[in-house]
Amino acid sequence: MPGPGYRFVGQEERDNVLEVLDRWQAGREAFDDPGEGVMVRRFERAAATRFGAAHCLGVNSGTSALVAALVGLGIGPGDEVIVPGYMFVASIASVLHCGADVVLAEIDESLTLDPADVRAKITPRTKAIMPVHMLGAPADMTALRALAAEHGLHILEDCAQSAGASYRGRPLGTLGAAGTFSLNHFKVITALQGGFVLTDDPLVFQRAYSFHDQGWFPYRRDHGEGDPLLGMNLGLGELHAAVALAQLGKLDRILERVRAVKRRLVERIGDLPDVRRRTLHDAAGECGTFAVYVFEHAKHAQDVAGRIGAKPLSDSPTHHYGSLPALAAFGRGDRSVVPFRAPGAGRWPRDYERGALPRTDDILARSVALATGVSDGYLGAGFGVHAGSSEAEIDEVAREFRRAVTGTRTV
Ligand SMILES: Cc1ncc(COP(=O)(O)O)c(C=O)c1O
Repeated sequence: MPGPGYRFVGQEERDNVLEVLDRWQAGREAFDDPGEGVMVRRFERAAATRFGAAHCLGVNSGTSALVAALVGLGIGPGDEVIVPGYMFVASIASVLHCGADVVLAEIDESLTLDPADVRAKITPRTKAIMPVHMLGAPADMTALRALAAEHGLHILEDCAQSAGASYRGRPLGTLGAAGTFSLNHFKVITALQGGFVLTDDPLVFQRAYSFHDQGWFPYRRDHGEGDPLLGMNLGLGELHAAVALAQLGKLDRILERVRAVKRRLVERIGDLPDVRRRTLHDAAGECGTFAVYVFEHAKHAQDVAGRIGAKPLSDSPTHHYGSLPALAAFGRGDRSVVPFRAPGAGRWPRDYERGALPRTDDILARSVALATGVSDGYLGAGFGVHAGSSEAEIDEVAREFRRAVTGTRTV
């Protein structure tokens, strides 16, 4: 099941895709110069304007966006990046593949980085903090920015799940040194596949650009300001950019609808015994793609999830550090799971086993997410409503959830 952007795909996306195909048929050279006419460049300019960043770089996935941003920030062997124990596997894998070390930190009841634990995890090798704005809502950016400033650290925001969200009026992705986004099928806006990086820093942009396109300087120049790099080929494709550009134009409409759907569901559910909603650091700024309920007791959460055909968030195979056997093996010293990594690099062993972050384990085991815009079974949110739900459907889902909570109460 998709995210809300998918439901808004219409004539605008089709027109843009046809424009790309027509231009391609007219002559391939139209794509050789990534100037203003190319769809990727149009998307980048529009995204930079919409989010208020000096630079936007289109890439082929949210994972590539993370890698390009890490390279842009100069993070590599010997560095540590603090990552929350609730994220997506790519948030961790991107750091390890860059040769840096992941230091896991606890989340709090916002399901995002707990600044107090981040402070406790800072070492002389820490180079960056990676807030992952999970399930559409911002981390505590005031506290994290203060910590970063105090210790001279970069903030790299993973905004894959929170495009369009803001924190105290500022778009997520512009509160640190760089922000990364995904345009996959489950996201607020989608191109089926794709991603992008935002940054205000010209050097971060140049390095990310050069890495994403075979070492070229922006925009395909053979020289320029900055650091020459050997690069890869991680660029956003023209056809995906065509869809992304149309979706970007609908972002505010999508958010308005998703937030309205969530508002109605949450109101209709009302207050319930032994459960509260997750902490929101900016309730007006979050996307509204999920309504997360945090129960007093893990057993209650599990029973409710079972009743509605969902799972507590601790059961996600790709978002909870304790569900990543390859990560645990890496922590025990198995280098084969990160193939390009120099043997012996970093400080080892590290404890990445389930149980390493007891508060994160506890909170996730007590949390159930209802879909209000994004339906994603891997996130544990297979039950709920979506941007196309009618008022009657929303009200019925609210009744069903209330029945599940009150009918399974054991304490
Ligand atoms: C928090 C987070 N980071 C990174 C990614 C990676 O994005 P992509 O699937 O586009 O590579 C995702 C995608 O699900 C995500 O949810």
